Amino acid sequence: MTARLTLAGVSLAFAGAPVVQGIDLSVARGEVLVILGPSGCGKTSLLRLMAGLIRPDAGQVTLSGAPPRPGEGAAMVFQSYRLLPWKTVAQNVAFALPGRPAAEREARVAEVLRLVGLARVAGSFPAALSGGMKQRVALARALAPRPDFLLMDEPFAALDAQARELMQAELLRLVGATGGPGVVFVTHSVDEALVLGDRVVVLSPRPGRIVARIDVPFPVPRWQADPHDHPAYAELRHRLWQLLRDAVLKDPASDFHRPEG
Ligand SMILES: Nc1ncnc2c1ncn2[C@@H]1O[C@H](COP(=O)(O)OP(=O)(O)OP(=O)(O)O)[C@@H](O)[C@H]1O
Ligand SMILES: [Mg+2]
Repeated sequence: MTARLTLAGVSLAFAGAPVVQGIDLSVARGEVLVILGPSGCGKTSLLRLMAGLIRPDAGQVTLSGAPPRPGEGAAMVFQSYRLLPWKTVAQNVAFALPGRPAAEREARVAEVLRLVGLARVAGSFPAALSGGMKQRVALARALAPRPDFLLMDEPFAALDAQARELMQAELLRLVGATGGPGVVFVTHSVDEALVLGDRVVVLSPRPGRIVARIDVPFPVPRWQADPHDHPAYAELRHRLWQLLRDAVLKDPASDFHRPEG
């Protein structure tokens, strides 16, 4: 059976103040679901719920039928790469494979480093790498234990525009490869959402609720054709941007709030 990550009627509050409310979502292995929403609407909290790091106050989070458990089935990737500076690239990736026999560990590390095109820097330390390369190490580390899902929290936000586009293509290639994981990808960028997503959900300002669900119609595999050229691209971009913009302008807590709308 294909692995599936599901949120049903999920609500979460911190100290009594709601963060997300009534979230229904489902993503299968091999799919990319993008979560788009204003700052503070609960995107990171949703990923932490999916990783099993926190529990919802209402509703259910399940990974293939059971509550997710940290470190099993879903791997997080962050904007800050969170590499250990005193360990080499290979050692950083090996860190994600505790308790495995040394030979198996080494083989898997070599395999994922080849997959992300970093075999030649296996012995280097993170300080010697560019931002894009560090993020590829973080991706390799996340992929090493063969998770069913990657939970990606604005992973490319700190990269320059060129590295970002290359990483987006790289991610789509990795996910499209046979046995690729499912991805839940959080971003503030409408373009990134459209380039990566099979589906995009848009959240309201805190407390985050789903205000729109969009099926992205571009042909797959996406990395082989530039979706910007697709006739529906401009219209979808405009629609998503309007939704986000409205959400922010109507939010009294936002710096950009305009009471008259
Ligand atoms: N552990 C916590 N304790 C209390 N409040 C928290 C905690 N974690 C998050 N919050 C609050 O919950 C809300 C949602 O936070 P979250 O980090 O999920 O938002 P986000 O959508 O990821 O924001 P951003 O786009 O800025 O990353 C914020 O108002 C935040 O201050
Ligand atoms: Mg966040």
